[in-house]
Amino acid sequence: MKGILLAGGFGTRLHPLTNAMSKQALPIYDKPMIYYPLSVLMLAGIRDILIISTKRDIKVFKEMFGDGSQLGLNLSYKIQDYPNGIAECFLLAEDFIDNDNVCLILGDNIFYGHDFVKLLKNAMENKSGATIFGYHVSNPSDFGVVEFDDDNNVLSIQEKPKNPKSNYVVPGLYFYDKDVCEIAKNIKPSPRGELEISDINLEYLKRKKLKVELMGRGIAWLDTGTTKGILDAANFVYAIQSRQGLYIACLEEIAYKNGYISKEDLLILSKSLLKTDYGKYIEKFALS
Ligand code: DAU
Repeated sequence: MKGILLAGGFGTRLHPLTNAMSKQALPIYDKPMIYYPLSVLMLAGIRDILIISTKRDIKVFKEMFGDGSQLGLNLSYKIQDYPNGIAECFLLAEDFIDNDNVCLILGDNIFYGHDFVKLLKNAMENKSGATIFGYHVSNPSDFGVVEFDDDNNVLSIQEKPKNPKSNYVVPGLYFYDKDVCEIAKNIKPSPRGELEISDINLEYLKRKKLKVELMGRGIAWLDTGTTKGILDAANFVYAIQSRQGLYIACLEEIAYKNGYISKEDLLILSKSLLKTDYGKYIEKFALS
């Protein structure tokens, strides 16, 4: 299974913060936003990951992560010239996907909670078709909205509808089989001019190959596309980390626990970070 982390866009809803820098490099409490979606791919056990961003911002991520080998990952990078829509990533990544299954995560989505890794592993076991998720929110009009019948069968998916048919929306985490590239080639831009991820999902629905798993109350999904979203997410991460003493999206910890790197590697990685609690947290694992 391949992983795509989509971290482009203009970040216009965050101006002036993003006038000259990437949204996904902004801090969410103690680490850059992109750490959170990258940690999700790592928790799923995905190591071949393509980071897609703008010509301006891709440099930042290359400098942040390099080839990923220090974390036991195989990272590559691709430029999206213009934010033509989320679904364009499958056209840009066709060679990278190379007829494999693929997981897409959006660079401004944060997930955390009970049995989340189990949810990821289950989705990965579904080798044919697509698996997406449904999450109850108070403001469905801001997202892709999914409508169910009484037996939890999906009836419709609508992108940012004015009159949403349910409170369940689709978070920015998607699992697809190899057909996704061919499907992406055949969808047309929406009225707002974007290749919509919802249209990909609709095509899988039409083919009767779409599975929608509900994420329950035990899972937090935070969207950090606005200043309020960033503040809410930072407060959430701060609250959990300081209460539990366990970190959200500590990439080095996940790499170590997944068996990608050794304690010695962990110690080396901690060296340049020791002025922060994040670094001390990594060092603690290395010395335990
Ligand atoms: O967050 C989940 C929602 O994400 C879904 O419920 C919607 O169905 C989906 O369309 C998307 O809606 P957003 O309005 O949140 O998408 P946004 O344009 O903010 O883009 C999400 C991320 O993807 C953001 O980090 C920027 C990046 N992006 C977006 C586009 C359109 C790109 O890198 N390239 C693009 O062309």
